[in-house]
Amino acid sequence: MILNPWEVDVKSEEDYERLVEIFGVRKIDEFILLEIQKITGELHVLLRRKFFYAHRDFDIAIKYYLNGKKFFLYTGRAPSKGKMHIGHLVPFIFTRWLQEKFDVNVYIQIPDEEKYWAKKADNYYEIREKAYEDARAIAALGFDPDKTFIFINSEYIKQLYSIAIHVAREINLNTAKKVFGFSDEATIGLPFYIALQIAPTFFERTIPVIPCGIDQDPYFRVQRDIAEKFGYYKASTILSKFVWGLNGPYTKMSSSDPNSAIFITDDKETVKRKIFKAFSGGRPTLEEHRKYGGIPDIDVSYYWLSILFEEDDRKLSEIREKYITGKLTTGELKEYTFNKIWDFLSRLQDNIKKINLDKYMYDGRLAREMWEFKFIK
Ligand code: TYM
Repeated sequence: MILNPWEVDVKSEEDYERLVEIFGVRKIDEFILLEIQKITGELHVLLRRKFFYAHRDFDIAIKYYLNGKKFFLYTGRAPSKGKMHIGHLVPFIFTRWLQEKFDVNVYIQIPDEEKYWAKKADNYYEIREKAYEDARAIAALGFDPDKTFIFINSEYIKQLYSIAIHVAREINLNTAKKVFGFSDEATIGLPFYIALQIAPTFFERTIPVIPCGIDQDPYFRVQRDIAEKFGYYKASTILSKFVWGLNGPYTKMSSSDPNSAIFITDDKETVKRKIFKAFSGGRPTLEEHRKYGGIPDIDVSYYWLSILFEEDDRKLSEIREKYITGKLTTGELKEYTFNKIWDFLSRLQDNIKKINLDKYMYDGRLAREMWEFKFIK
C-alpha cells in the first residue's frame, strides 16, 4: 500500500484498517455518531455509511461545542492539470453539511503551487486558472457566503506567510522526511509547502476541524506537535476513504484517465455513457443474472449509491436484495444510479453558472475580515 498526499494506492478495507493503526487515529464508532446526532438531529449519509470512517479528536471538538464554544472548519483542494471529478467533491459536500449543522466558519485553501511543486503539472499558469474554476465548483455546493472564505495561495500569500514564517521554523527536515517520505528528488518546494497547508489551522484561536481524505492527515499530525507552543489548538481531522473509480473496486478515480472518472463538467450523455461502461457485478447474460443474481459489493454503480447517492437506507437495502436475487438487472441498476448522479450534477452545473465567487473570496463577511487578518502568536 502506498499512501502520501501525492500518491494514493489503497487496495482493500484491511488497508484502511491498517491506516488507522499506522496513523494512530480512531474509527468513527456508534458512540461518536450518537454524540453528533444529538446536535445535528440527523446524520449525513457519508457518516452513516462510514465513508468518513476515522477521526482524531472530533469527540473533543464536539464536547467543546456542547460547552458553547465553536470550532471552525478547514479543508482544501489543490488544482492539477486534470479536471476535478466527483470524488474530489466528497469532502466539500460533507464540510458544507457540517457548516449548516454547526453554524461555523469554513476556510477553503486552494494551493496553486502544491501540484506544480510535486511535478504533477508542468504549466503553472494553467493551474492558476484552474484554481478559480475549482473554487467556483466548490462554492456552488452551497456554502454560506458570509461564513466561508475561499483563498488561492498565491493571492493570499502575504497573510499566509505571516503564519508560515513561524510554522516553518518549528519543522525540521528530518520530521518532514519521516512523515512525508520525501526522496532526494523531491523539489525543495514541497517541504516548505507543509507550512503553507498548516498555516490556516491558526486562522482562529479555537479548534480547527478538518474533513479530508486520509491522505492529508500527515500535515495535521505535524501541526499537532506545534500548535500548543503557539498558544493555539491542535487540529482535529475527520478522515474519509477514497472513492472507487469507474474501472472497479479500489481503482483510482483519476483526473488523468477520463474513463475512470465522472468530471464535474461532463454532460448528460457523457455521464450516462461512463456509468453504462463502468465495472459491474452483473452476470454475462441476462439468463445467468436472473439465475445467479448480481454481486453488489463489487459493483461500481451500487457502490456510488451506497456511499452517497441513495440516502434512504431502506431503498438501498431493497436494491441490494433485488440485485442479489437477480430481480434487478445491471442495466436497471445503472439507469437508477445515472439518474441520481445526473440529478446532483446538473444542479451543481446550474449553480456553478450562477455563483458569485467574489463573495467567497473577497466581499462576504468572513472574506472581508480575512483580508485584514493579522497573525498574533
Ligand atoms: P487534493 O486536491 O488532492 O484533494 C482534495 C480533497 O479531496 C480528497 N480526495 C478524495 N476523496 C475521496 N476520493 C478520492 N478519490 C479523492 N481524491 C482526493 C483529498 O483527500 C482532499 O481532502 N493538499 C491538498 C489540498 C489542501 C487540503 C487542505 C486538503 C490544502 N489545504 C486542507 C485538506 C485540508 C490536496 O492536494 O488535495
